[in-house]
Amino acid sequence: MKNKIVAGNWKMNKTFDEAEELLVAIAEGLDDMPLETDVIICPPFPYLEMAADVSEESNFTVGAQNVSHEKAGAYTGEVSAAMIKSAGVDFCIVGHSERRAYGCETDEILAKKVLLLLEEDIIPIFCIGEQLAERESGDQFKVVENQLTKGLFHLSVENFEHIVIAYEPVWAIGTGKTATPQQAQEMHAFIRNLIEKKYDTETAYNTYIIYGGSCSSKNALELFSCQDVDGGLIGGASLDAEEFIEIINAAETCLNSN
Ligand code: PGA
Repeated sequence: MKNKIVAGNWKMNKTFDEAEELLVAIAEGLDDMPLETDVIICPPFPYLEMAADVSEESNFTVGAQNVSHEKAGAYTGEVSAAMIKSAGVDFCIVGHSERRAYGCETDEILAKKVLLLLEEDIIPIFCIGEQLAERESGDQFKVVENQLTKGLFHLSVENFEHIVIAYEPVWAIGTGKTATPQQAQEMHAFIRNLIEKKYDTETAYNTYIIYGGSCSSKNALELFSCQDVDGGLIGGASLDAEEFIEIINAAETCLNSN
């Protein structure tokens, strides 16, 4: 049985001191756990190196929330894949719906980011998911297929093995309206099926497909128990050490009950 992944996306929250305090609290909580789940914490850029330092004595790895689609050069304010790698990062969120919406990130830009990250041995956590209106009009599968095809299906099978997919229905992010386990399972199975058609059965099975969108300690267990849900991408609930640890506990419970 595959491990689970629980990743915390801190978004634009916490000052340096607050970030350090939260990381240390999470590290202390993880110390008491015989952990099988892969825990990833994605703080804002300025805290990556500090987070990587804390992670050396703990059971989590560090991810960035974004990366430039250019390699290097005159791109004021941008941060490259090589830079985050040199700060100790192993994962990077790509194509979060907030960046697609406010950062005007197109599928082509996201496809470039994925390649640059893979060149640096950083695992992209590639986010896909439909808006509320798209679900209401029954277009959710078409939308997700399109995002997956344009953002990831340019990859060779060898590269695809280093991808984590996060299904995050936009209407569930930060709203408290979590997808039901049935809705999550249905979409995750659909995504896995597309991967199987494009690549092969083994690659499809091995790909981590995690769920994001108002995931909390209250619903994590039933979501993570779904056959095709390999864990979660946690926003708001990752900003509190106790809550985040409870979500990791839910992932552990799933692993131990199988
Ligand atoms: P949320 O965010 O858990 O606060 O809904 C999830 C995400 O945006 O990754």
